[in-house]
Amino acid sequence: MKEVSFDTLTAIQQRTLHAAARAMEHAYNPYSKFFVGAALHTTSGEIVSGANVENAAYGSCICAERSAIVSANAQGLRRFDTVAVIARGDSFDTTVVTAPCGECRQVLFEFSQIANTPLNVIMATTKMDKIIVATIEELLPLAFGPKDLGVDLEKYSK
Ligand code: THU
Repeated sequence: MKEVSFDTLTAIQQRTLHAAARAMEHAYNPYSKFFVGAALHTTSGEIVSGANVENAAYGSCICAERSAIVSANAQGLRRFDTVAVIARGDSFDTTVVTAPCGECRQVLFEFSQIANTPLNVIMATTKMDKIIVATIEELLPLAFGPKDLGVDLEKYSK
């Protein structure tokens, strides 16, 4: 886990973070008024983004990270090496980075095992003046995943 500056990110990481920032503006957030954007970079070079989608039945809210994963899956994309997350309030910028919630960490871990490649998570403040990069394993130590169930992941890796 490392705090870095925007300039030291790779070009791919910068592009992925910018895609997350654009998606953030599409948040459907009438309840929390919190805007979250996420973007996934695939091992084949695509970027797929997502925003949070809330619901009057609060438990049915979907985070930006899972929204991006569901969208990528529908495009036949399951192998990600980078995910970026950024957020803002309705009338405030975040001053600490927004990190994926526990449920999203679990879902991201699932796909990192399917991809069989390290998954770097880039977390930024609204102005990108604070950025932390961590692996999914750092965010979810001793994670339980498909490998624990002996699933043949090859079949699902695309
Ligand atoms: N949210 C995300 O989309 N991702 C996160 O990492 C944290 C929380 C959303 C869910 C809900 O729409 C709003 O932020 C407030 O919790």
